[in-house]
Parts: sequence; C-alpha cells; structure tokens
Amino acid sequence: MSILGTQERPLRVAVVGSGPSGFFAADHLLKSLVVCEVNLFERLPVPFGLVRGGVAPDHPKIRTVTKVFERTAAHPRFAFFGNVEIGRDLSLEELRRFHDAVILAYGAEADQRMGIPGEDLPGSHTATEFVGWYNAHPDFRDARFDLSKETAVIVGAGNVALDVARILCLPPEALAATDIAGHALDALAESRVRDVVLLVRRGPAQVKFTLSELKEIGDIPGCQPVVDPAELALNPESAEEINTPELARILEILGEFAARPADPAARRRIHFRFLAGPHALEGEGEVERIVLERNRLAGPAFGQKPWATGETFPLGCGLVFRSIGYRGLPLPGAPFHDKGGVVPNTLGCVEDNGRTVPGLYAAGWIKRGPTGVIGTNKADSLETVKSVLTDTAGLAPCPEPDTEALRALLRARGVRAVSFDDWRVIDAAEQARGAVLGKPRERFTRVADMLAALDNAARAGGDTA
Ligand SMILES: Cc1cc2nc3c(=O)[nH]c(=O)nc-3n(C[C@H](O)[C@H](O)[C@H](O)COP(=O)(O)OP(=O)(O)OC[C@H]3O[C@@H](n4cnc5c(N)ncnc54)[C@H](O)[C@@H]3O)c2cc1C
Ligand SMILES: NC(=O)c1ccc[n+]([C@@H]2O[C@H](COP(=O)([O-])OP(=O)(O)OC[C@H]3O[C@@H](n4cnc5c(N)ncnc54)[C@H](OP(=O)(O)O)[C@@H]3O)[C@@H](O)[C@H]2O)c1
Repeated sequence: MSILGTQERPLRVAVVGSGPSGFFAADHLLKSLVVCEVNLFERLPVPFGLVRGGVAPDHPKIRTVTKVFERTAAHPRFAFFGNVEIGRDLSLEELRRFHDAVILAYGAEADQRMGIPGEDLPGSHTATEFVGWYNAHPDFRDARFDLSKETAVIVGAGNVALDVARILCLPPEALAATDIAGHALDALAESRVRDVVLLVRRGPAQVKFTLSELKEIGDIPGCQPVVDPAELALNPESAEEINTPELARILEILGEFAARPADPAARRRIHFRFLAGPHALEGEGEVERIVLERNRLAGPAFGQKPWATGETFPLGCGLVFRSIGYRGLPLPGAPFHDKGGVVPNTLGCVEDNGRTVPGLYAAGWIKRGPTGVIGTNKADSLETVKSVLTDTAGLAPCPEPDTEALRALLRARGVRAVSFDDWRVIDAAEQARGAVLGKPRERFTRVADMLAALDNAARAGGDTA
C-alpha cells in the first residue's frame, strides 16, 4: 500500500468553507512537503466567505486579499466545489469516505442574542442581516429595513458596529462607486435616518473597535460624531487598561469627537453612549424605543464587567441593529460545543467529549470563535495544518480516494458543483453588470442567477464557436 502524502498517493484533504481560514489552510497544505490534494467545498457558488459577504463595500483594498486566494486556487492539486453544502448535499461521513482528512472552516454564520424583552419586534435586526443585505448575500436579499425612521440604535462596540454606522451615514455618492448591492444603494439613497446611536455597554477603555475604523467615523462627510465628555471619565482600573498606543489614541480621538462644536448643518450624527446596556425593546407592533440601563464597571483591571445600576431610561428609535458578535452553528455529524458556538478542538484537532476524532480538524471562526481579522486566520490555519501534517503518518487512508467518483455522486444527486473556472465566469459577469453602472461589480443576489450566468456564458461560447 502506498504511503499517504507522496506523489504516488497524495494526502487527500477536504476543506469545508471558502473564507480566509479555508483558503489559508489550503495554501499551507499545498505548500507543505507532504504532497496534498485539496478539495475545497463552499455552500454558495461564489467563494471567499466574509471577504465577499462581510467586508464593507467602501473598503475595497481589504478585498484584494482574494488575489492571494486566486493563486492558491490555480494550484494543480486544488479543486473548488462551489454550490455544495456539507450537511445538505453531502454528509460529513460521505466527505470522509473520499478524503483522508477534513478541515472544518465553515465560519460562524449565526448571531449572539441579547436575551431581553422585545428583541424580536419588527424593526429589530441583526447586523448580520444588514451586512448581508448591503453585500448582496443571497440569504439576505429579501431583508427589509425601514429607513424612513430618524433614529437607529446599534448595540455593540466592535468593528462590525462601526461598519453598520458608517454605511448608514455615508452619503449615497460615496457608496455609488463601490460594489454595494444595487438594492441597498437605492434604499440608502432614500434613507431618512439622521441619528445613529452606538450603545457601548462598558466604557471607552473597553471598546472592541480599532483605531482606523474609529477615525473613519470622524471623516464621514456631513456627519457629526457626538460624545459626552462626562462619559469619557475613567475609573482607576480603566486607566490601567490603556496600555497600548492604539487604545490611547482611540481615547484621544473620542476626546476630539467630544470637543467638536455642534454642527447644525450636519446631515447625520453618530452618538457614542458609554456604560449603557440594552434593557428592553418596546413598541406597539414594532420598535418604538429602546430602554437603556445605566451600567457601572466592576472587577479588576482587564476583567471589568458591566453591572446594571437599576437606573433605566428610554430612547426613542425605530430601528435597532444588534451587533454583539457572531455565533457558530453545528454541522450535522460533527462535534459541537453549544455554549461556545465552536467545534471543540485542541490545536485544530477536533475532539468529541475530550477524545480526538482522527482525521477531523477545524480552522478559523468555527475553531476559535468569531473574533479576529482576515490575517488572524492565516496563523490559525497554519496551526491546524501543522496538526494535520503531524498526524499524516498515522491517518487511516480513506476508502475511496477518487474525486471523479465524488463528482459522479454529486451529479447523481442533481447537485451542480461550481468549479473555480466557473466562478471566474460569474465574476466576469458581475463585473460586466457593474461596468454599465459605473461600479466595480453588481453582484447576483440569487444562486439561480449565478448559475444562469454560467449557462448564458456557455451558450454565448457555443454561439461563437
Ligand atoms: C461584517 C464583517 C466585516 C468584516 N470586515 C473585515 C475587514 O474589513 N477586515 C478584516 O481583516 N476582517 C474583517 N472581518 C473579519 C473576517 O471577515 C473574518 O476574520 C474571517 O472572514 C473569518 O474567516 P472564516 O474562514 O473562519 O469564516 P468565513 O469568512 O465566514 O467563511 C466561512 C465560509 O464557509 C461557508 N460555509 C458555511 N457553512 C458551510 C457548509 N455547511 N458547507 C460548505 N460551506 C459552508 C460560508 O458560506 C463561508 O463562505 C469582518 C467580519 C465581519 C463579520
Ligand atoms: N475593518 C475591520 O478590520 C473589521 C471589520 C469588521 C469586523 N472585523 C473583525 O471581526 C470580528 C467580529 O467583530 P464584531 O464587531 O462582530 O465582534 P466584537 O469585536 O467581538 O464586538 C462585539 C461587541 O458587542 C458587545 N456585546 C456583546 N454582547 C453584548 C450585549 N449582550 N449587550 C451589549 N453589547 C454586547 C461587546 O461588548 P463587550 O466587550 O462588553 O463584551 C463588543 O463591544 C472582530 O475581531 C473584528 O475586529 C474587523
């Protein structure tokens, strides 16, 4: 029997999910001395996970990381299986029949809940819905946001919260030349939202957003950031927590915002409210107000928690966006840690009740939880790939090391797998749609339309042949 990881019998690895962690894992595998074949599975016909569906449209430079992923995809021992959902089109067990190792890199697509009364009233949305909607993600194409309301509240103080605030407040002309979904551009152009309130349940020393994103808030044309200087006062523990130049600069910028004179001509305002937690959402059939609770901090420096003081006060608003973090979902057949919303693992090796599951690994947000920027996933995936490579000699070879048999199984099930070349066709079609509108791309918002673009291109190719 040939040895796994050789030219004669490459190590066959399936990666589930084509976001940064999936692509970085594939890249590390293909560059290793162990000869690997990588099949990467993605539930959508289009790759790149949150790089396509999360990163804000006014941040095009961040999306250029896809060039790195395209180089990985060009490797002769790499294959993309878009439009194949593991757990629906193919079970994890079946996937393991065709691969010696499987890396779960399927992200964290659900949301944390606030757990307060009125959370699900109409008008209360997750940031995930709004982000997916403006980025044309097929799951959220039908989402609707009542932008006729004047006040929107965003709960949370992470970078996603700032993305949502910025997109709500940027003038339409600043978004028109981006790849924002056409439906979102049209709706935002009509938006009557004037005041956006960012609710931070702890203090300014505990915010999760980063400096460059905060600076951008201060640079939105026609938009005034508003900070109450009294809310910038720090207790001794918080003062101790200001231990990086970045955090010190964040405090300075918030101070600059607090010192800005009121601009009566401002079209929009972004208010930062510190030490204010969500207590309840109220309204007759829809959100009319959020009841806030004044918090104080308790605990040692770097471990301070928000404690409700019992003092509550209402804030009128017609829209609420919960931006309090993402949450992983279980994949049928894979172990899952419900409380943490992750696949339990040590160094990427998946564990079931504390016992390692041979040949099953995890990477990215589903491995460590929904934090970290794109680059964080590179080192994270490397850690997982090192575990795979260390295990290689002891892995049981899969019973069916045959990608053609896998393709035949998918075809027999009526699953239309989309290759990376197919994605390039969809990509070109989206760019062509965008060019007509003066945008870098106009995305398809339906899976059916993505697949139809492939049929159209095939017909056009046939016509010219
Ligand atoms: C709104 C938002 C904006 C962000 N902006 C930035 C930014 O500007 N800069 C930055 O550095 N970082 C940003 N990040 C963070 C960055 O996007 C993440 O660190 C990164 O995407 C996580 O990578 P991942 O591969 O683990 O997950 P994901 O990127 O979520 O990829 C998971 C992939 O798995 C697929 N999938 C899910 N289930 C299945 C299944 N059953 N079968 C097959 N495929 C499946 C999904 O469709 C998805 O494509 C942002 C995050 C969010 C939420
Ligand atoms: N431009 C970029 O680089 C960019 C853009 C978007 C996202 N990202 C990255 O993607 C990751 C996810 O971002 P994220 O913003 O979703 O998560 P995050 O950074 O973890 O922020 C979540 C925020 O929600 C707050 N929160 C949690 N539960 C709450 C509750 N019940 N009530 C009120 N507030 C609550 C948290 O406060 P506590 O601190 O008190 O818990 C925190 O401020 C981050 O690592 C982020 O940096 C990067």
